[in-house]
Amino acid sequence: MAEKLDTGPLIEVLQEASRVAILTGAGISAESGIPTFRGEEGLWKKYRPEELATPTAFSQDPKLVWEWYDWRRGIIGQKEPNPGHKVIARWEETFPTVSLITQNIDGLHQKAGSKNIWELHGNIWKLRCTEEGTITENYNTPLKEIPPLCPNCGALLRPHVVWFGESLSPTILQKSIQLSSECDVMFVIGTSAVVQPAASLPFEASEAGAKIVEINLDPTSLSLYADFSIRGKSGEILPLIDEELKKTPKA
Ligand code: OAD
Repeated sequence: MAEKLDTGPLIEVLQEASRVAILTGAGISAESGIPTFRGEEGLWKKYRPEELATPTAFSQDPKLVWEWYDWRRGIIGQKEPNPGHKVIARWEETFPTVSLITQNIDGLHQKAGSKNIWELHGNIWKLRCTEEGTITENYNTPLKEIPPLCPNCGALLRPHVVWFGESLSPTILQKSIQLSSECDVMFVIGTSAVVQPAASLPFEASEAGAKIVEINLDPTSLSLYADFSIRGKSGEILPLIDEELKKTPKA
């Protein structure tokens, strides 16, 4: 698929773009070895994410929930950014403005070097005090104590991620909506585009006049509305687009 891709019309659009927004989902990290959310490998012991990533599960058994997060941190901590993450990071130098909105909590975009990131669903490497709300970064795998406690007040720390039934940070959501409605081009990469409110961001962008470029292995509910809907692995398609962009002189 990647070799046969005709990037010509897309390159023309990209050469004129000054504000690029990029929305990513689990698919961008799949080639780094992190299973996607709706894939089949999401089970831990006998539990499903829907049973563990909830405020109720945490209040009933914080140790169990933390054991699951500790296991996931152990896996994610060994993974490296793939060529897709790296191209996105490099594009901060290619385009005047690149805003990266991600649903992922794995921190691989940061590891690849992206700076202008808006994490809609939080970050697995951040811990939040359940009493004070303070957020700290912690990269220990395994964690030194489970469940971890706030060094300041002794209250439980929780993963700084959005759980099922919780709202997104209004600040980050507002900013993401603003960036979507102000961009010239929005890439939508490796997301099944079913989880709201993230799934509505490409529509914000499209309604405001932006071109939508979807990159996904499979068709999604967004594919019909996208100006460019490209089937394939983001770790292959993004480097290909990047190469074409570099070698095509601006008209
Ligand atoms: P999903 O697991 O729902 O979708 C992953 C998408 O990536 C699918 O559409 C795949 O076809 C595609 N895909 C897989 N490998 C790919 C590759 N190498 N290149 C390109 N595309 C690929 O993940 P998300 O859409 O990110 O939220 O899920 C959204 C949210 O659902 C998650 O952030 C999570 C979950 O509920 C929270 O935890 C709050």
